[in-house]
Amino acid sequence: TKATEVTVEGKTYSTDEWMNTPSTILTAISRRLHLQQDHPLAITRKLIESRFPGYNTHNDLFPVVTVEQNFDSLGFPADHIGRSRTDTYYLNQDTVLRTHTSAHQADTFRANESAGYLISADVYRRDAVDRSHYPVFHQMEGARIWDRGALDAGKSLAQTVWEDVANIPKHDIEVEDPNPTTHAERNPLQDGHSAEDVEAMAAHLKRSLEDVVVAIFSTARSASAATTGGDTAAAPADEPLKVRWVEAYFPFTSPSWELEVFWQGDWLEVLGCGIVRQSILNNAGVSNKVGWAFGLGLERIAMLLYSIPDIRLFWSTDSRFLSQFSAAGPLQRFVPFSKYPACFKDVSFWLHSSSAITGAGGRGRNAQATSHDFHENDIMEIARDVCGDLVEDVRLVDEFVHPKTGRRSFCYRTNYRSLERTLTNDETNELHERFRQQLVEKLGVELR
Ligand code: PHE
Repeated sequence: TKATEVTVEGKTYSTDEWMNTPSTILTAISRRLHLQQDHPLAITRKLIESRFPGYNTHNDLFPVVTVEQNFDSLGFPADHIGRSRTDTYYLNQDTVLRTHTSAHQADTFRANESAGYLISADVYRRDAVDRSHYPVFHQMEGARIWDRGALDAGKSLAQTVWEDVANIPKHDIEVEDPNPTTHAERNPLQDGHSAEDVEAMAAHLKRSLEDVVVAIFSTARSASAATTGGDTAAAPADEPLKVRWVEAYFPFTSPSWELEVFWQGDWLEVLGCGIVRQSILNNAGVSNKVGWAFGLGLERIAMLLYSIPDIRLFWSTDSRFLSQFSAAGPLQRFVPFSKYPACFKDVSFWLHSSSAITGAGGRGRNAQATSHDFHENDIMEIARDVCGDLVEDVRLVDEFVHPKTGRRSFCYRTNYRSLERTLTNDETNELHERFRQQLVEKLGVELR
């Protein structure tokens, strides 16, 4: 019989047909990497926290939240893709593993305990298998609010905020910010917000986050100087740090932006942010407040900071990894202890006639969704389930439609590699065979 209950950290939930959380994900919950002494994620968290003096920190909020907390309270529309079981881990229809730290926004605003807060936590998303994606990762959420009324005599909100802006450390990096703070269609001012107030809060938000990025990247730069040669990832370039603000969209902020950093030849998105939707503050019982919020991925920043080449490393318990990090003393870049060989294997299969893999190459090309359709993330999850951290990458390499039958064929290439040892041929053959069989059993494909 199928279990109808699941216990997470001592709390029991009844499951239903929405349950799609594998036990491998549930066991990751207790790891709390962002709190582990001398773990690179914990050091990165503290480095960022140190740039926000006086902000309240919450680092142990419970990971199981309601659909209301994760989506509804933030204004996600009913049909938002993020709500789908292909993207989100559900325990039951009303209960999910948080997909972002913003799940705690409404509650934290409701508690109304401080003007600024930071929340660091593990978050969970079904996603691709590659060196920068893992179904569990860590985010830091930050927010800063101000009183709208009850201001000191003769001082406007905008003036108060500009005085706070003046207290943020100055920097001399190059910042591209070509867009106006608000734009009627692309990035609108909210009803009831004044342009002057939002101008001031946007400046406070942007200067605060630029300060974080400057702190992180100057630390990364001095670390690269401390390490010489060796088989390390490319050293941070010595060219000056360049950052840019781009317009963005989130259901829970407006206007909204993303901050990108030019890093080794590419623009890299490091965080999302914006002016908090007034409805969230109103619903949380603090309609007299206005403010901003941001969310950033700690793994991505830590990977840049330490030159960590693969996100799976954060989960390693190998002392050759863990012993390289210390909160005390200057930051040292990560030196890969060895590069073990990769083993590539392909699996090709037919789908049921006229069905499709959503989220993959074949996305949206079939006219009618059928009951045999599945999402590419289902393939990813089977690979994780079978291989754990021995799979580095899974990608679609070929797709075609049979000219006569109209059936679709897909070929996925899996890269098996351990970060800690050399896998034997027998081992990878066995993993691959189990992967193939699970594709048949769980997704009903026909192997070629
Ligand atoms: N929660 C958003 C994400 O995960 C980031 C964000 C947080 C954006 C707060 C705006 C404000 O992508």
